[in-house]
Order: sequence, then structure tokens, then C-alpha cells
Amino acid sequence: MAFDFRLATVDEVDQIASIEMESMPNPWKADSYIEAINSDHAFVMVAMDDKRVAGYAVFYLTPPEAELPDIVVDLEYRGKGLGRSLLTEAFAALSKNSIDTVFLEVRESNAAARSLYNSLGFEEIGKRKYFYSNPVEDAICMSLHM
Ligand SMILES: CC(C)(COP(=O)(O)OP(=O)(O)OC[C@H]1O[C@@H](n2cnc3c(N)ncnc32)[C@H](O)[C@@H]1OP(=O)(O)O)[C@@H](O)C(=O)NCCC(=O)NCCS
Repeated sequence: MAFDFRLATVDEVDQIASIEMESMPNPWKADSYIEAINSDHAFVMVAMDDKRVAGYAVFYLTPPEAELPDIVVDLEYRGKGLGRSLLTEAFAALSKNSIDTVFLEVRESNAAARSLYNSLGFEEIGKRKYFYSNPVEDAICMSLHM
């Protein structure tokens, strides 16, 4: 399947927020995406299947570092390499913004996400006890030097 990877606009926010609601225990609201899209210090990358959002990733930029606070692939598109492609495309955009290191947190039990990050070269750099709620869980902190 061929996807178009590009920066999100406010036109995609309703779709993004709806995928987020289905996928995340503490979902971000539409306003948070609008803020990120309109900020000079953040971007939201989307993978488009024609006019449908198949996945998205949010980055906060503090060059030479960036944070990845939110990445989701719509349930129907999972397990086909889209998460990997979305991050690979995003890393190219980050490099153009003078970013060389990406940080993230992930639930300890999130095997799919941890496996994806490991396979892209992220390394565990620490743990935050009781970082998440609903349910309460530790976060694994990871970083990638690109
Ligand atoms: C994490 C997520 C983005 C992965 O997206 P995806 O498109 O399904 O992932 P890909 O198909 O690109 O998989 C890439 C690698 O991730 C790992 N992976 C993906 N799904 C997996 C699963 N269910 N179990 C174990 N490993 C998995 C594998 O290492 C895979 O490599 P492989 O294809 O060579 O086996 C997706 O599962 C998702 O949206 N989950 C819900 C939201 C979420 O948890 N976001 C992360 C918050 S930190």
C-alpha cells in the first residue's frame, strides 16, 4: 500500500483525534494537535491513504533534541510496516531541523511499541516509576542518536 507522508494540517485533526480516542487510554484532545500543528516548535506527521489518516506522529522540537510524545497507527493499518515508515520519514524531517537525538517514553507493557523502537535503534536510558495512569504503570525512557 502506498502512503503519502506529509505534515498534518488542521483539516486532518478530527480524524487524528478520533483514531487517538480509539487507541490510547488517556487520549489527547483535538486542541493539542491544533496547537502542535500551529507551533514553530512542533510538527505532526501523517501517513495518508488517499484522504484517510492511517497514522500520525507528534514531535516537539528543542534542537538538537526532539521528543516523540504521541504516535499511533490506525488499528486497520497495524502490523504492515507503517509505524516504521512513519518514523523513518519523520527522522528525515527532523534531520532537516538540526535534530540529532530523539527521546520518548513508553508503557512497560507496550510490547508492539517497544519492539518498534528497539528495531529502529532506540536504547533504554531509564525508567519513570508510576508515570502513567489508567492503568498506573512505569514508563521506559528511550533515546535514539540519529
Ligand atoms: C506501536 C504502533 C505505532 C506500531 O505500528 P505498526 O504500524 O503496527 O508497526 P509496524 O508494522 O511498522 O512494525 C514495526 C516493528 O514493530 C514491532 N511490532 C509491531 N507490532 C507488534 C506487535 N503487535 N507485537 C510485537 N512487535 C510488534 C516489530 O518489531 C515490527 O517489526 P517487524 O515488522 O520486522 O516484525 C501501533 O501498534 C500502535 O499504534 N499502537 C497503539 C498506540 C501506541 O501504543 N503508540 C505508542 C505509544 S508510546
